[in-house]
Amino acid sequence: MGCRLPLQLASLGGPVGTPALAAAVSEAGGLGMIPNPSSAAAVEQLVEAARALTAQPIGVGFLIPFVVREAVVAAGAVAEVVEFFYGDPDPDLVRAAAAGGAVVGWQVGSIAEALAAERAGCGYVVVQGIEAGGHVRGTQPLDELLAQTTAGIGVPVVAAGGVGTAERAAALLAGGAAAIRVGTRFVAAEEADAHQTYTAMLIAASSGDTVLTEAFGVGWPNAPHRVLRSAVEAAERFEQPVVATLGDREIARFAPTTPIGEVRGEVAAMALYAGHSVDAVTRIQPAAEIVAELSQSF
Ligand SMILES: Cc1cc2nc3c(=O)[nH]c(=O)nc-3n(C[C@H](O)[C@H](O)[C@H](O)COP(=O)(O)O)c2cc1C
Repeated sequence: MGCRLPLQLASLGGPVGTPALAAAVSEAGGLGMIPNPSSAAAVEQLVEAARALTAQPIGVGFLIPFVVREAVVAAGAVAEVVEFFYGDPDPDLVRAAAAGGAVVGWQVGSIAEALAAERAGCGYVVVQGIEAGGHVRGTQPLDELLAQTTAGIGVPVVAAGGVGTAERAAALLAGGAAAIRVGTRFVAAEEADAHQTYTAMLIAASSGDTVLTEAFGVGWPNAPHRVLRSAVEAAERFEQPVVATLGDREIARFAPTTPIGEVRGEVAAMALYAGHSVDAVTRIQPAAEIVAELSQSF
């Protein structure tokens, strides 16, 4: 990828992942990711905003249920990396992104899906363990899936899900991962755009407070995700159809929308995504400090 450290910022929807966060991670030696742009103009604007802050490589992530092809083509032309998640690997989308020169990856939840991503032409895969925060594609613990995948495919394998400490990161690299991918820890980065109530709840929580559920499924049904259990309970208690607003947009109770800073309403009853790595979220920190902490033993 051209970055100094084998560490990737996860694409963080909401968007909790800002261009400033992506740039800070890239500038610190990792690979920063920009989440889910829905038009070519959005891709160009967001990547340009990150490029204003760093000359290091930048990636763009897309969620398959919401992907817009023209945005993928644009990302392939302006970013070093384009990545997809939450859908069967699609050779046409991989070609569309690779045509612009980007390295293309797919985040997967099983060895079968990893093999399909390799066949579709991906240059790397991210294997996501069941410990992960956000939407969870697979059903296996990360170590098991990593071992199966490194033995079974030829492209580099990035390990994601529950990675919160330097010790865990080093163990995964020793276990064959080409890099690690980190989400929840960066939600509490200074440069991220998470609502302060969400960040405070992550700081207070531990891995036992997370749950894998399909509860926040309005508009994205049958899609398991790991959140704070308290968020599901609060949403169950909250009886109004609209839980919060973002400008003039209403956010439905049980929508998968995660609260960014501008959200107003019952934030504690929204989708508060958190991985087992939440154990290591203890304060708000600059992203560069999180990168330095995680990569201590590389
Ligand atoms: C707040 C949040 C939002 C996420 N949004 C996305 C997304 O839009 N696209 C994506 O590929 N993965 C998304 N993920 C999942 C990550 O890619 C990754 O698998 C996960 O964060 C790894 O586990 P960890 O949170 O324990 O580090 C999200 C995760 C979190 C915590």
